[in-house]
Amino acid sequence: MVLSLFLSLLSTLSYGFDALPKKAPLAAGEKMTPAQIELGKMLYFDKRLSKNNTVSCQTCHDVNKGGVDGLPVSKGIHGQLGPRNAPTVYNAAFLTTQFWDGRENTLEDQAKGPLINPKEMGMKDHDEVVAKIKSIPGYLPYFEKAFGKENPITIEHVAKAIAHYERTLITPNSPFDRYQRGDKKAMSKRAIRGMKTFEQVGCTSCHSGVNFSGPPLPVGTGFFMRFPTFDNPYVEKYGFKKDLGRFEATKNPVDKHMWRVPTLRNIALTAPYFHNGAVKSLDEAVRVMAKSQLNVDLKKKQVKDIVAFLKSLSGKTKKVKEPKIP
Ligand code: HEC
Ligand code: HEC
Repeated sequence: MVLSLFLSLLSTLSYGFDALPKKAPLAAGEKMTPAQIELGKMLYFDKRLSKNNTVSCQTCHDVNKGGVDGLPVSKGIHGQLGPRNAPTVYNAAFLTTQFWDGRENTLEDQAKGPLINPKEMGMKDHDEVVAKIKSIPGYLPYFEKAFGKENPITIEHVAKAIAHYERTLITPNSPFDRYQRGDKKAMSKRAIRGMKTFEQVGCTSCHSGVNFSGPPLPVGTGFFMRFPTFDNPYVEKYGFKKDLGRFEATKNPVDKHMWRVPTLRNIALTAPYFHNGAVKSLDEAVRVMAKSQLNVDLKKKQVKDIVAFLKSLSGKTKKVKEPKIP
């Protein structure tokens, strides 16, 4: 209660935004080694981590396509559709809670979910995941190199390796970041105008901070907001109220239609938009947001300017080569 009051107070203040740090945060005392990252990348791409060897993390979070699958809702094993749109894995390392409803805290906790989600990778339980990896002899040396010789293949280590690989999937070099760091030519005039409009109309009351997902908070604390806040014709048109949001995870009535404020980094690469992937274009997503969260009808030019600004949040990434898996 106190926390939600505190958070709604926060939302009335504007926190501004800033360039992304060049390294992802790590928990105190935590280390991240090249051997762990290399192993994590293999596991991330390995379809054998799913029940019928057809789906990997990469299937739904393609690191060469903005970290998403481009579908309204994701397709898991046996072509089953899940209930929600896949968010990007890029910069997820900067989030203090994971998933649209913030139901997990860390990347490690998150990574364990899809493996045993019947609609995603479909393994029976984590024991089955570990047994399957142990049955592939070529993995053992990689686990030993990453985690030492004593009981190296565990679900904790699988999750840790994948999470550390994800901590390398960050984009601190977008035109916006270069602009923030002093290269005033990095952004177009239109994008700069859009950035000002983004602040003036109040988008930053929610999309602030280095990840445009809210003010800095400790890991485990999410920045949640009601969506939609204002009723309007888009709500019915795009079915935004069908999913109860955070309530689905907590069953607490105050969490109905509460959603974690998502990052806007790389947003131009991650259509379609919103938790249900119902909106195809970024222009429309901006109009929906202004109407639903601020009760504002933006002018055409304002929408164009904001979209130009949002495009400046796309980072350059090198093409990721599929790793050789054991
Ligand atoms: C079948 C498609 C699918 C597979 C396979 C899958 N994911 Fe996801 N992922 C999703 C969807 C959909 C969500 C959002 C679900 C929600 O919020 O309820 C998600 C959420 C996430 C998030 C949270 C991002 C955020 O903004 O909160 C991360 C990180 C992530 N997945 C990483 C992984 C990793 C690592 C794997 C492999 C172990 C994986 N995913 C496998 C579809 C998939
Ligand atoms: C009161 C808080 C709030 C304000 C103000 C706000 N947003 Fe959002 N925004 C959210 C939440 C929460 C979501 C996630 C909604 C969902 O899909 O469930 C979101 C989602 C989005 C998305 C889609 C993200 C994705 O990955 O699909 C875009 C784009 C966006 N906002 C842009 C904006 C812009 C531009 C403005 C200003 C015109 C704005 N937002 C104002 C809270 C806010």
